[in-house]
Amino acid sequence: MRFILFTTCLFLVPSWASCQTENECKCILNNLWLDVYLLIDDSTKMGSAGLFEVAANVNSVFGYSQIRVGSNYPDKKGTRVSVITYNKIAAIRANLSDFNSADQLTSMVYSMKPSDSDDSNLQSGLKLVETMMSYKDQNAPKNNTKTVVVVYAGDYYDYDKPTIAQLGDQLKANGVTIITVADISRNDRLQIENLKALASNGDGFSINDDYVSEEVQQAMCRGNEH
Ligand SMILES: *[C@@H]1O[C@H](CO)[C@@H](O)[C@H](O)[C@H]1NC(C)=O
Ligand SMILES: *[C@@H]1O[C@H](CO)[C@@H](O)[C@H](O)[C@H]1NC(C)=O
Repeated sequence: MRFILFTTCLFLVPSWASCQTENECKCILNNLWLDVYLLIDDSTKMGSAGLFEVAANVNSVFGYSQIRVGSNYPDKKGTRVSVITYNKIAAIRANLSDFNSADQLTSMVYSMKPSDSDDSNLQSGLKLVETMMSYKDQNAPKNNTKTVVVVYAGDYYDYDKPTIAQLGDQLKANGVTIITVADISRNDRLQIENLKALASNGDGFSINDDYVSEEVQQAMCRGNEH
């Protein structure tokens, strides 16, 4: 039985991966049915090199995979993706209903340019996600769909209250899965530990991990099941 499960798993997920739970084994990327907010630091802390790494990661997670971006499919299922950037303030680059394909998503993230702000205010980004989750129209998260927030951060700094951790706890208490990807190449290595604590259990990664796009995909699958 173990052996059968393991081979089934290899068939369904990227070949490097071995799944730990039956739910992970069941994860089929083109069946992912999620509302995803990509929260991307575009301050000078991330910089243009960091943003390029983020875009490459988004491209491998969504572009080179079976994930269906948008909800414009015969079965109405798919993964809707919103893009939010933050520096001193946060801005909506794309609402949940904007993208109809992975190509539209990846060309947007590859065209991102860093702002000239030195402030990497993750709190402003998390607050904007909260606001967007209270929309009542086609850009609202769907009732019967899990919500995932993927944070790409070049820094971790609390400017005021509620803190990043408190804002994260509120989202997690509302059933949101938080995945974090730290880009610490230009910053203090200790901060990655804080960012990991913001993530849902085990969903805190670094952009320099060997298999970071597969890690993010597996974490989205866990978000899909949870
Ligand atoms: C995002 O959607 C909300 C709710 O529909 C709308 O008020 C807002 O103007 C949209 N923002 C952008 C940048 O599209
Ligand atoms: C989602 O649930 C809320 C609260 O139960 C309800 O008011 C709203 O109409 C629902 N939206 C959809 C699209 O079903």
